[in-house]
Formats: sequence, structure tokens, C-alpha cells
Amino acid sequence: MEPHDPPRMKTVHIKSFGCQMNVYDGQRMADILGQQGYEETATPEGADLVLLNTCHIRDRAVQKVYTELGKLRDLKVAQLANGQHTKIIVAGCVAQAEGAEIQRRQPAVDLVVGPQAYHRLPELLEQAKSRRTVDTDLPAEDKFGHLPAPTPKAIRARGISAFVTVQEGCDKFCAFCVVPYTRGAEFSRPVAQVLAEVARLAASGVQDVTLIGQNVNAYHGEGEGGVRGLARLLYAVADIPGIARIRYTTSHPRDMGDDLIAAHRDLPQLMPFLHLPVQAGSDRILAAMNRRHTADEYRRLIDRIRAARPDIALSSDFIVGFPGESDAEFEDTIRLVDEIGFASSYSFKYSPRPGTPAADLVEQVAPELMNERLYRLQARIEHHRQAFNHAMVGRTVEVLLERVGRHARQLAGKTPWLQAVQIETETNQIGDRVQVLIERAGSNSLFGRLASPVPGSGRDIAA
Ligand code: 5AD
Ligand code: SF4
Repeated sequence: MEPHDPPRMKTVHIKSFGCQMNVYDGQRMADILGQQGYEETATPEGADLVLLNTCHIRDRAVQKVYTELGKLRDLKVAQLANGQHTKIIVAGCVAQAEGAEIQRRQPAVDLVVGPQAYHRLPELLEQAKSRRTVDTDLPAEDKFGHLPAPTPKAIRARGISAFVTVQEGCDKFCAFCVVPYTRGAEFSRPVAQVLAEVARLAASGVQDVTLIGQNVNAYHGEGEGGVRGLARLLYAVADIPGIARIRYTTSHPRDMGDDLIAAHRDLPQLMPFLHLPVQAGSDRILAAMNRRHTADEYRRLIDRIRAARPDIALSSDFIVGFPGESDAEFEDTIRLVDEIGFASSYSFKYSPRPGTPAADLVEQVAPELMNERLYRLQARIEHHRQAFNHAMVGRTVEVLLERVGRHARQLAGKTPWLQAVQIETETNQIGDRVQVLIERAGSNSLFGRLASPVPGSGRDIAA
């Protein structure tokens, strides 16, 4: 090294798979490693640490991890030939569920760290210098209290929209789902801790916050004067200066209490878009899934939510081919989709997961039949999504500008209903909330032109 060369920065490449909580965890791990002198890089080549933040929800997600690890082993060998000792870390839900198995199947892995143990990354990395290490302890209480806050620079680099985990784990035990085993029992962060985190984000420019949890509307965090539910938390978040938009995900229909529905009526910052998975439209299948509600209970719940907030749009998750699902039961799902008219939805083929009750059911549905059902369901979902997007044409809606667009002079943002919008503008910047006349609906984005600034939306009228 030349005498004037600065010491080489240590680098980490983080790749997150799966849900939004993994995105959040990935950022928090970047914050911890940042404190240890690691800078994040966009590619694994040349990185000192490569961290895979994994998803265990369906078999396909797990297989992806092992394929990825094979590639990383080759990279590690190639970099060793150049004298660089790359460490491979596996985090997330596959780490939790298959810790020892990962090390057996891929000896190049140096460290396996579960979703409730990643606050210990610095000491585990130290330990991994001398031996391969696995830490998959479960209690979540420890973790949040030990995580360093992100720096203002890191917050700004991540943009004006942010996720904040407020609740983790699940006690619902749907018969198909691994989450109660990989993320553990329900845990809610204390109210003050969540509010401090949101305030910190807002102070560095975040305007749009999504409160996340596997079962977020079961939130019950310690607050002043006792335990508080999600509704109370939302009112408090709405009071934080600078927070213009609030969302929460993912919810369970059983936990949509009256107070939470009232929050949709009362809070203008609470966006009119709710992800409320129903999974299936047949009562027999819903019971077999252990969802503990019927299709009609879900319909009535949607009616109550729409009565409180008439412009609310809904989305759902669906599983086709749950064991024993008949043609007629699948038609019940299609009927529900057509009745509710979801603005968008995710749909999946049932994937038997080791250790879940449904995996032991004998009447598994044939793969070809699952493909057929998924194809039909996705066509209905897409039909409703397009109808919802086309209904925006000719309307003027508020758009929060979040990033540069595809072309020069274009900025991209979102409507209150989570639709991507592209506009041409030379007078605006990221962070502005503008009124946009929607002129056209493409397959994945809306296109529009500036109508006028929203009164009181800060910079766009101050200029
Ligand atoms: N097979 C298929 N889909 C699943 N999901 C959860 N577990 C499974 C499984 N075993 C889906 C559910 C859930 C979403 C996150 O993933 O629809 O809401
Ligand atoms: Fe899984 Fe959601 Fe059911 Fe919990 S409520 S078991 S996270 S599908």
C-alpha cells in the first residue's frame, strides 16, 4: 500500500428475499455492521461479507437460497485465490428453520444467524473467525433494545418511505404456515420505542411510513397507562410532525377491531389501502386452514371497513390447492374475488411446509390442477387490478414523489392506493406531494400531469 492510501473500507453485500420484514431486518443489520466499519455494496463481488437474508414461506423460496449459496461458494473460492477471505452469512427464516442443515449442505457458509439473534452479529462475526457458528435463539424481546439507530445519512439514502417493525411473530397457527415456528410467538415493541424510531426517521426526511408485523393488527405494545392496540399507536404516529402517510401490514381479519376501523375513518394520514389476506373463499377450506372466520364474516368485515372509509381499496393473499380443495371450493374463492373486487392481490400454489399440520394431510391436490387454478385466479385478480387502475383515469389524485422516473424530467411516486405514477415535471423534487391528473393507465404504472400543489405540502409551495 502507498503511504497515503486510506485504509480500505470493509464492505458488506446484503441480499434480502421474501417479505417487507426482511427488508427492514436487512437495513437494521446494515446499521449494526455500519457501526463495525462495514459499508454496504450493491454487488457481492469483492465484498468482505455477503449476507443472505432468507425466506422460508414456500419451498421455492428455500430452494432459491441453496442455489444462491452455490454461486456464492464459487465466488468465495475465486476471491480466496486473490487473497480475499469472504465470509458468507445466512440470516432470516431459513437460517432459523434449517440452521444445521444449511451448514451441512453448504460448507462455505461461515455464520448462520436467526431473525431474533441478529443484534449479536458483531460478537458472532468475531466467533466465526475461528469456527463456523449458528445462533438461532428465539426470544424477540432482546433484539430491538440492542439495535443501533440508523444514522441520518443511512435514512436519507433509503428514501422518503420507510418500514418500521412494530410487531413480530404470530400466534395464529394457520395450518399451512411456517411463520409461528420461524419468527416465534407474537411480540409487540413498546409504544415509546416505535414512536422514537418514527420520529427519528421523520427528522431525516421520511414522510411515508409502513408499520409492519406478521400479524400487525394484533399489536399490543406497552404504553403510558397500559397496553395499547394498533389503533392507539396509529393515532400517536399520525401526531409526529412530517409523517404524511401511514400504512400497516399484514393484518388478520380476526384482529380488525372497531377501534382500528374507526382509525380509518378519523385519520387522514392513514392511507385508504388495506392488505387483509383471506386466503380462500370456501368455509370448509377456511376451517381446515384454521383461519377461524368464514367467508361471510370476511364479507361483512369488508362492508364495515368500507362504511368507515368509502374510498378504501383492498388487497389479499390467496392460496390455491390447499389439501382437499375441490373444484367447487375453488370456485368459492373466484366468487369472493369477484364480489370484493380487490385492487390487487398475491396468489400462491399451496406448498407443504415441514412441521406444519397441513403438510401431513393426505389429500394433496395434483400439481397440474394447482397450476390451472392459479392461472384462473390470477386472471381474475388481474382483471380487477386493471379495472381499479383504469378507474383512476380522469381523476386528480395526490401523489407523493419518491424517486426519479424512467426518463429525464420524469419523477415517480405513489397514489394513496399504492399505485405507481409517473409524471413529467421540472419544478418538483422528491418528497413533494402534488396533485396529479391521471391521463393514462399502463399495465404497471399510471401516467399523469401536474394539476396543482397540495395546500400546505411544504416545499412545493414554498419555492
Ligand atoms: N403455501 C403457499 N402459500 C403460503 N403462504 C403462507 N404459507 C404458504 C404455504 N405453505 C402465503 C399466504 C400468506 C402469504 C404471505 O404467503 O397466502 O398470506
Ligand atoms: Fe402465517 Fe399469517 Fe396465519 Fe400467522 S396469520 S400463521 S403469519 S398466514
